[in-house]
Amino acid sequence: MPLSYDLVFASSNRHKYSEARQILGSLGIKLGFFRCRLEELQSDSLAKIAAGKAKDAFSRCKRPVIVEDAGLFIDSLGGFPGPYSSYVQDTIGNRGILKLVGSKRSARFVSVVTYCDGRLLKSFDASVSGHISRRQSGSGWGYDPIFVGSDSETFARSRLKNESSHRYRALKKFSSWYLRTQKSTC
Ligand code: IMP
Repeated sequence: MPLSYDLVFASSNRHKYSEARQILGSLGIKLGFFRCRLEELQSDSLAKIAAGKAKDAFSRCKRPVIVEDAGLFIDSLGGFPGPYSSYVQDTIGNRGILKLVGSKRSARFVSVVTYCDGRLLKSFDASVSGHISRRQSGSGWGYDPIFVGSDSETFARSRLKNESSHRYRALKKFSSWYLRTQKSTC
């Protein structure tokens, strides 16, 4: 039976997968889900963390795989939490961030998508600029209720998140490369 997907997305985060599936689906790539908790290196570089996760994912699922590592970089906090976004979300959460942010509220969400097929390891990064809201708005996951993008809504309320986010931009770069590579090997 033919596979019902082109490659898999490895993550423990269902929200990320569901966004990635919708985004890549709209670009002509069918994405399966390999649900697992991946080894996460301690590093101040999202690219290094994503590369480590991609190698770990490929060693487990043994098929072409992509992983993603993301981070929220807040200017007034010197880029914090950045690569520590996951830990900070699990500890002080959005409420803690709202208490820390001063009057300068600009921030960036960064995404690194890494592809691994055992032979090739390739990363694609992108970011989206915005700011931190004054209060939580909407019931999205992670930092969505406090990150405001270009449409002046938090990601939790935005209808445009999947057409403008850090994840969309990194996946778009990945899809251009992937579709080109697939064509040239067929
Ligand atoms: P990681 O890529 O799973 O390490 O993500 C780091 C942290 O940022 C986690 O707490 C995620 O929940 C959060 N995060 C990553 N991407 C998004 C997003 O698109 N919206 C909201 N939170 C996000």
